[in-house]
Amino acid sequence: MAQDAAKPTDPDLAQGIELGAVADGGMLAGHVGEEEVVLVRQGTEIFAVGAHCTHYHAPLADGIVTGNLIRCPWHHACFDFRTGEAVRAPALSPLDCWSVEERGGKIFVREKKEQPKVRERRPGAAPEKIVIIGGGAAGFAAAEMLRREQYGGSIVMLSNDGAAPVDRPNLSKDYLVGTAPEDWVPLRPESFYADHGIDLRLKTHVAGVDPRAREVALADGSKIGFDRLLLATGAEPVKLPIPGADAAHVYTLRTLADCRAIIARAKEARRVVVIGASFIGLEVAAALRNRDIEVHVVAPEARPMERILGPQMGDFIRSLHEEHGVIFHLGETAAAIESDKVRLKTGSLLQADMVVVGVGVRPRLELAESAGLALDRGVTVNSYLETSAPGIFAAGDIARWPDPHSGENIRVEHWVVAERQGQKAARNMLGCGEKFTDVPFFWSQHYDVPINYVGHAEKWDALDIEGDIAGKDCLIRFKRNGRVLAVASIFRDVENLQAEVAMEEAAVSGPG
Ligand SMILES: Cc1cc2nc3c(=O)[nH]c(=O)nc-3n(C[C@H](O)[C@H](O)[C@H](O)COP(=O)(O)OP(=O)(O)OC[C@H]3O[C@@H](n4cnc5c(N)ncnc54)[C@H](O)[C@@H]3O)c2cc1C
Ligand code: FES
Repeated sequence: MAQDAAKPTDPDLAQGIELGAVADGGMLAGHVGEEEVVLVRQGTEIFAVGAHCTHYHAPLADGIVTGNLIRCPWHHACFDFRTGEAVRAPALSPLDCWSVEERGGKIFVREKKEQPKVRERRPGAAPEKIVIIGGGAAGFAAAEMLRREQYGGSIVMLSNDGAAPVDRPNLSKDYLVGTAPEDWVPLRPESFYADHGIDLRLKTHVAGVDPRAREVALADGSKIGFDRLLLATGAEPVKLPIPGADAAHVYTLRTLADCRAIIARAKEARRVVVIGASFIGLEVAAALRNRDIEVHVVAPEARPMERILGPQMGDFIRSLHEEHGVIFHLGETAAAIESDKVRLKTGSLLQADMVVVGVGVRPRLELAESAGLALDRGVTVNSYLETSAPGIFAAGDIARWPDPHSGENIRVEHWVVAERQGQKAARNMLGCGEKFTDVPFFWSQHYDVPINYVGHAEKWDALDIEGDIAGKDCLIRFKRNGRVLAVASIFRDVENLQAEVAMEEAAVSGPG
């Protein structure tokens, strides 16, 4: 990741700087006392906000400014620099704002402002009862946005997980490596839910949804009525249909409990077999190598990630993991898992005192299916994220929506998309009537190498590579019929953001 923007040599903004020191549409990092601040200029106006993203603390001055937004270089959160509001996930908390004074052609940053209430309650009748099924990325972002929108009605959030919403991407990265303490993992402290009037019910399994009666049925037989419902049930790891797949030393990774179990076992394990070279499988491999465990990866493909990132990036990812000691068994599949080994189809045996299966996920569609909602390899939603049943919305890993950028109905499994869909569905449950048009984005982290991917390209006919993949400084464009569908990059954050902006603009101006 890039270095922090504000350095000791950065200007003291309380002492004043020349107006011309900040270019129009540009940013300048500095400090006020102990606090790091970034200035943004829009025409003759200057704004001062916190210098670091409230998601993972990226230096915002390394991002870009478009319109009223600062776009974070690492995972594309957007902040309105006029109010500090985190208007697009993955950041959810606002930036601090300072007042700015202009005197004699110089800019002085003065006191920190009180956080403004950025949104007024919407006029008109709001639904009285909103129920959210799912305590993950989409469900949490929806509940948070409902309260941000000053929604005053009841919010019930039902999750069959034992943990309150967590930062799931961290479960295969710093937390699994052991470098992030567990208190980084919850998206919000426990008190947040009571403080915001969110009735979060954990370990609560929803057994059915009745769209006509407007009720959800819980596994214990009780019922909860709703005026609007958000289905955000996410996905679950695919289980391998092979002997031994249910053994106690075989793990999948989706929940905090899964992750804790892997960490506990990893303390004793010496050799791990990871089945599947998926993003999660490889992130787990990297995390376990960081814990000094011998790691073997078994996968049927010739190159890891080739289907999503192309052959060149696939080769790079393979050699990156090999440099860190991972041993690949590609073109191989597991036939059986025994107590201390994995038997491959070719007959080879791999010793393993722990096995992690990362062979993909399957969207949890049972509730939508039994409720009679339209399905198409996911829950079909319209541009407003509403399902075929009026008043019932769906977001996140389960939702297949009309993507205006690819022109296709797509379903993805990306953290940022799930959160943003949750936010959009929340606003639409309140009657905002806004289309979901965000360009899909995901990131993945392997050791010290972040991969950022914006857009969506299931198939492409040309691949443009700029820079040097092996040198960890590259940008790859995935094209079909001459059109850029997606861009993947390593340490080219600004260009990745610019690609996102270009895709947004292309969708607005339409094809051609
Ligand atoms: C380890 C890991 C690392 C990841 N890393 C990245 C990454 O780096 N970048 C990225 O873009 N994406 C990443 N992802 C993917 C990302 O986390 C998902 O796309 C995202 O969590 C989807 O959000 P969601 O709200 O749809 O589902 P989830 O976050 O899975 O939440 C679903 C919720 O629904 C609940 N639920 C399901 N069924 C029921 C029921 N019947 N009754 C009650 N509750 C129910 C579940 O308990 C859960 O609380 C990662 C995923 C994992 C597992
Ligand atoms: S650090 Fe800014 S979006 Fe993640």
